[in-house]
Amino acid sequence: MNPRHFISLLDLSGDELRRLIDRAIVLKKNRNPDYQPLKGQVLAMIFEKSSTRTRISFEAGMSHFGGSALFLSPRDTQLGRGEPLRDSAKVISSMVDCIMLRTDKHETVTTFAEHSSVPVINGLTDEQHPCQLLADMQTYFELRGDIDGKIVAWIGDGNNMCHSYIHAAMRLGFVLNIACPSAYRPSQAIVDAGGDCVRFFDTALAAAKHADLVVTDVWASMGQEEEQKQREIAFKDYQVNTAIMNAAAGDALFMHCLPAHRGEEVSSDVIDGPQSVVFDEAENRLHAQKALLEFLICRK
Ligand code: CP
Ligand code: NVA
Repeated sequence: MNPRHFISLLDLSGDELRRLIDRAIVLKKNRNPDYQPLKGQVLAMIFEKSSTRTRISFEAGMSHFGGSALFLSPRDTQLGRGEPLRDSAKVISSMVDCIMLRTDKHETVTTFAEHSSVPVINGLTDEQHPCQLLADMQTYFELRGDIDGKIVAWIGDGNNMCHSYIHAAMRLGFVLNIACPSAYRPSQAIVDAGGDCVRFFDTALAAAKHADLVVTDVWASMGQEEEQKQREIAFKDYQVNTAIMNAAAGDALFMHCLPAHRGEEVSSDVIDGPQSVVFDEAENRLHAQKALLEFLICRK
């Protein structure tokens, strides 16, 4: 049987995504230490970029399920010395049951998956961050119910998170209002695929109007540190602050995948305020990852 990969949110149907989210909610409510569906199974985690939440959630998740996780960095493996991706994928997948990869180029993950005999999970690329969307959607469903028909406002960079939000809108039936500087729009191909699910606005305030969920992310992602100053100027009108939250629906939630820069993309009063659910989102990385691992590895 060919392995099922999770490279993009679009790898799952809307029904599969909803089932996975429901499963994550159940796993969170009923933690049963005797339930060990991944006993003896091994997850290899390849990190070419830093991580707190992704690493801990996958590692803890494997441990809760009776399995284990290996942390691999290019510094310590032959990957960092140029061993071809296809060879690495064949070798690593011959010894473990699942592989999670965080890297810059999206093609690295797709190439890895082509040559892997076990499921490959995208733990973040410059193009997409689908694992974070599982946690964000779980958080919304838990607190507000199904997101079908709702309005989500994306304020800021048209980055990997924004792309995965477009995919979530396509699969789960919400509309994504985007406000971003014209030089930092999301990929046109991904926007085109999103069709009517995506709408652009000239200002953050207009995008946030009546939104049920307001989301942002850092102005300079990993690998863009040298652009920080230039981005601070370009994004100065794209901070999520009280004025933005006041334009949204009265019961709107605020989300951010973290790590956050208070005073840049979000004001402290919003991220630390009553509408913010960023720490629920962070915790849900664990539950969503467990549901994903179970879905991919325990497939009969
Ligand atoms: N949100 C997220 O992916 O966090 P880490 O970079 O800490 O894994
Ligand atoms: N857009 C951010 C997300 C971090 C979780 C980055 O790629 O650095």
